[in-house]
Amino acid sequence: MKVCSRAINFLQIMNAEGDVRICSWRRNNIIGNLLKQDMSEILHGEKAEAIRKSLSEGDYSHCDKDNCPYLANGKMEEILIDVETIPDYPTELHLGYEGVCNYSCTCCSSHQHMEDTRNHNYNIQYEELEKRLEKIMPHVRTLAANGRGELFASKRILKLLQTWKPLAPAEEIQVVLETNGSMFDEMHWKQIENLGQYHLSVEITVMSFNERIYQHLSGTKLPIKKIEDNLLFVKGLREKGIINRFELATVLQEENFREMPEFTRRCIEEFGADRVRIRPIFPGGIYNKHIQWFMDVRNTEHPYYLQYKEIMKHPIFQDPKVLLWSGDMSSSLGQHPGVKAEHIQRAVELILSDSKIIEKLDKNRNETCSDMFLYGIGTLGKLMIRLYQKQLQFKTIFDEFTYLKKWEDIAVKRPDSVSGLSGTILVTTYGKFDFISQKLKKAGFLGNVICVYDLLEEEIKCGKS
Ligand SMILES: C[S@@+](CC[C@H](N)C(=O)[O-])C[C@H]1O[C@@H](n2cnc3c(N)ncnc32)[C@H](O)[C@@H]1O
Repeated sequence: MKVCSRAINFLQIMNAEGDVRICSWRRNNIIGNLLKQDMSEILHGEKAEAIRKSLSEGDYSHCDKDNCPYLANGKMEEILIDVETIPDYPTELHLGYEGVCNYSCTCCSSHQHMEDTRNHNYNIQYEELEKRLEKIMPHVRTLAANGRGELFASKRILKLLQTWKPLAPAEEIQVVLETNGSMFDEMHWKQIENLGQYHLSVEITVMSFNERIYQHLSGTKLPIKKIEDNLLFVKGLREKGIINRFELATVLQEENFREMPEFTRRCIEEFGADRVRIRPIFPGGIYNKHIQWFMDVRNTEHPYYLQYKEIMKHPIFQDPKVLLWSGDMSSSLGQHPGVKAEHIQRAVELILSDSKIIEKLDKNRNETCSDMFLYGIGTLGKLMIRLYQKQLQFKTIFDEFTYLKKWEDIAVKRPDSVSGLSGTILVTTYGKFDFISQKLKKAGFLGNVICVYDLLEEEIKCGKS
């Protein structure tokens, strides 16, 4: 079986409750629970098998393309591996369960995890988890920490790193440390210097070298001088060959995109980075969706989009040491949520006041099969059901993102279950109609797909394609 190596080699312990996920760039990626199952059961379980099967068939529809640098850059071939048997232990294990951080990054999607840890005493769960991890960790060949929270604030994870005794010889062992670098000084390094005997990769995120922007985006009062000093300390370890790979990372967003060329230059020239990872901001963090939208300058609808594109033409981004995480993809956020809300509100008004909507729909219905289906259980979906279920008799609602199983006695299913169905699907979601329509056809739907916005009296620019 040829399959994405992240479906085999990425396994992260996510929280004190023991959730285990496969590739973090995939939606619905939790495959088991280490407090309830043993590792072999998780790796060979139904969920993991189903994910591996679909990936081995080249189905990446559950992968977040923008969030996967291989998919976004058209380089999937680089990460595919041949697999004969699934091992009982993961070859690569990521420890991210402790939920503590000394920063409070405005864009971080792990705030809930940190808050949960502050509000609970998880000592019993941690102890049980670590008892189980102690049995698993000797078999691991690549150990990574801490993708969720801050490594040097994570006392329990540090202890596991200090005491880890892999079975394989040291030259076959890799360690990947993810940190914000604010505590990566000599004193803290001493706690885990045993890791220097392995192939050691250090990845440090710095939001900006401008102190005001750095402090704001990282939610810290630390001076930027502290980070710069620590980066020079890490550079020293890299030069001595104690660290074997040094990556500097940032999250590109409205406040820091203008400094990206100079930021990248400093990472390479001043701090000796082997790689500079420029990852665009993805939704999440402390702000509401209106402000999050403004942080994402990769959006073609953003007022600074053209300025961002101009800046990204700088030759430094062609340097082989630079990874533009999502290539030159634009973000998929589209119109500002306030504009979307206005459009949806207008569509509601039009639907409520239009008595000819069914006539218009009838003209576009499938002639051979009268079955009706609805796509999207949002505002317009619910409205159409409330007003017209008696007449239209929607048989099923398809929705990719809801957790609902039923709405007003109509079953809610995932869109990939349309295979072999005929009739008419009425799409009620905002935007991406062409994409949804193609996806439904590709999944085997044999009938007509209609967009609710096309039935309205007035044209509403709902970002259809
Ligand atoms: C949650 S952080 C924690 C790891 C570590 N403390 C650090 O600072 O790198 C893991 C990675 O996610 C990135 N990240 C956080 N929020 C993000 C967002 N909204 N969009 C894209 N990347 C984000 C960080 O920059 C970092 O590289």
